[in-house]
Amino acid sequence: MCGIFAYLNYQVPRTRKEVFDTLVKGLQRLEYRGYDSAGIAVDSPGKTTNKDANSNICLIKKKGKVKALDEALYNGDSMDLQEELETHFGIAHTRWATHGEPSPINSHPHRSDKNNEFVVIHNGIITNYKELKKYLNSKGYKFESETDTEVIPKLIKYVYDNREKEHLSFSTLVERVIQQLEGAFALVFKSSHFPGEAVATRRGSPLLIGVRSQFELPSEHIPIQYNSAPYFSVLHDGPKASRGPGTLSELEPIARIQEGVQERNSRNKTDSVVEQQEVVGGKAVEYYFASDASAIIEHTNKVIYLEDDDIAAVIKGNLSLHRMNRQTGDSPSRAIQTLQMELQQIMKGNFEAFMQKEIFEQPESVVNTMRGRISFDGSKVILGGLKDHLKEIKRCRRLIMIGCGTSFHAAVATRQILEELTELPVMVELASDFLDRYTPVFRDDVCFFISQSGETADTLMALRYCKDRGALTVGITNTVGSSISRETDCGVHINAGPEIGVASTKAYTSQFVAIIMFGLMMSEDRISMQKRREEIIIGLKDLPDMIKKVLELDGKIKGIAQELYQQKSLLVMGRGFNYATCLEGALKIKEITYMHSEGILAGELKHGPLALIDKDMPVIMVIMRDACYTKCQNALQQVTARQGRPILICSEDDPETIKYAYQTIGLPHTVDCLQGVLSVIPLQLMSFHLAVLRGFDVDCPRNLAKSVTVE
Ligand code: F6R
Repeated sequence: MCGIFAYLNYQVPRTRKEVFDTLVKGLQRLEYRGYDSAGIAVDSPGKTTNKDANSNICLIKKKGKVKALDEALYNGDSMDLQEELETHFGIAHTRWATHGEPSPINSHPHRSDKNNEFVVIHNGIITNYKELKKYLNSKGYKFESETDTEVIPKLIKYVYDNREKEHLSFSTLVERVIQQLEGAFALVFKSSHFPGEAVATRRGSPLLIGVRSQFELPSEHIPIQYNSAPYFSVLHDGPKASRGPGTLSELEPIARIQEGVQERNSRNKTDSVVEQQEVVGGKAVEYYFASDASAIIEHTNKVIYLEDDDIAAVIKGNLSLHRMNRQTGDSPSRAIQTLQMELQQIMKGNFEAFMQKEIFEQPESVVNTMRGRISFDGSKVILGGLKDHLKEIKRCRRLIMIGCGTSFHAAVATRQILEELTELPVMVELASDFLDRYTPVFRDDVCFFISQSGETADTLMALRYCKDRGALTVGITNTVGSSISRETDCGVHINAGPEIGVASTKAYTSQFVAIIMFGLMMSEDRISMQKRREEIIIGLKDLPDMIKKVLELDGKIKGIAQELYQQKSLLVMGRGFNYATCLEGALKIKEITYMHSEGILAGELKHGPLALIDKDMPVIMVIMRDACYTKCQNALQQVTARQGRPILICSEDDPETIKYAYQTIGLPHTVDCLQGVLSVIPLQLMSFHLAVLRGFDVDCPRNLAKSVTVE
């Protein structure tokens, strides 16, 4: 997840310093979306009204937080900060790396060429960037970064360079570019060929536009301009037609652009995009483009939310919106909405805390973990970061999964399915204990380091220890450019987006899914495993909808929390695929509610913990319909026989279990090895509600830090 912000002032004089301040403030509001590097693009001094194609745009990019960029803007001596800019368009970005480590070169804005003819900011992931890059390389376009984003400015320049005699507006160029992109994006473009103009578009990633005008806005709705000559209907036969990995002819997307250019040349020359009606302003107007309203609300409460494939263009202060062609059910306009919210509220959305927001983001974050990596029809899984090491991994003696806290639990949760799919011994290790024991590690071991932050000191030390012994090291992190992702030989980025709440939630489910994808990749050529793989892949496909169903239980879980919040202890019990759920649930409860909580392996009940059970001890039991079902039923009997009153997390269609419940949280059924993604969510929600009821700060629990960088 990244943050996008852009600001255009049309006939509203602003000093360069004011422009910088607006851009930097916008980024600071969005910093929670990513904060490993930041950058801006503005017109170079003295070039703001120059219509010459060679006029320059200046890029300033910095590694680190927005503060580092802010300082860089004022440290440079080349800019006159008091220069007055009557009309100007600046774009800005704060990054959370997905492709390429944090560095100035990988930061946004990205550019088309050394003259910065086109520059772009992007939030999202372009999944077909390798194909596009290869083609553009073959046409002589040179890339400077490791990012997926850089194909976009190169591609727009390619379309521009090959326009022959056709007049193409800025938004038409963008329209042609987005037809070639797969994945998710919110984009804002700036170009020296179109000074003072802005173009923005989105698909799958959020983008909205704030409008501030000295005049009454002429309408509460902005009509959509549909492109009368459906140029792009020739580009794709259907949405994303036949684009499985490796099936697309590499030349196809660009070759189609060329065909399109010729076809359009020979047709009606009217450019519906240029000839758009004036919609907003015309004089003295300011526009703010942002990933979310938190960056806009202090300037204006009038906003337009773009929808997928909308293209917004500002020319001479006029905003127009258009789409390629009308789809059934399309609304013919976009409303200018009035935001009623406070800044703090917007950042957390309708949620009381970031942790709660992150719990509710899980349908989306697991999709982001899988995006571009699984072909659901072809049952193929490709984790790009591991591809080149797969042979070596398959030859290894054992897999060792190492992490701390929640990240360790993700390893426990997936160990059984990894053993089954890889047929290799799998060890799971708490990093601190692994080091304390001087665990023997060999050259033919493959060691995984699981870490949301990528900076946890214990995990990092364990990584260095394994490296010294010659093992292949693999990172599973949520932070590209973190120490763990840099120091491992290869890895998987889980793409869950920044996690702000100290208690980890969405990172856990994304780690879980990423490790299962690794197991699927390892077992692709095992005939005996195909049925199982298919079942899991179907389960992964349905997972986001199932998570949504579990989240609907929030009200019920809150009710149970109201009964429990004054208790001192809470036991969480289960076994098999759901043992990790109990460990993770208990960790969530203890860290934010400060109640004593223990995750207990149900098989160990009679070896000690049963002594704790009586009518007053609250117990949550996780009993799902899997291979451990009967054994879990036995544990349930042992608890109820001691007057225990269990709260059951079980299948929604399991009357046999439910009849023994004091309270029931019924879950949809999925394949056994994925059930833990669903069963942990009620416990995340439970811990959240308990903490709120007990009056504690959910996002910042006492004594804890988000990133534990000391051993
Ligand atoms: C618990 C939690 C911690 C972390 C642990 C490891 O909610 O967040 O237990 O999981 O400190 O952190 P990472 O994953 O950043 O290595």
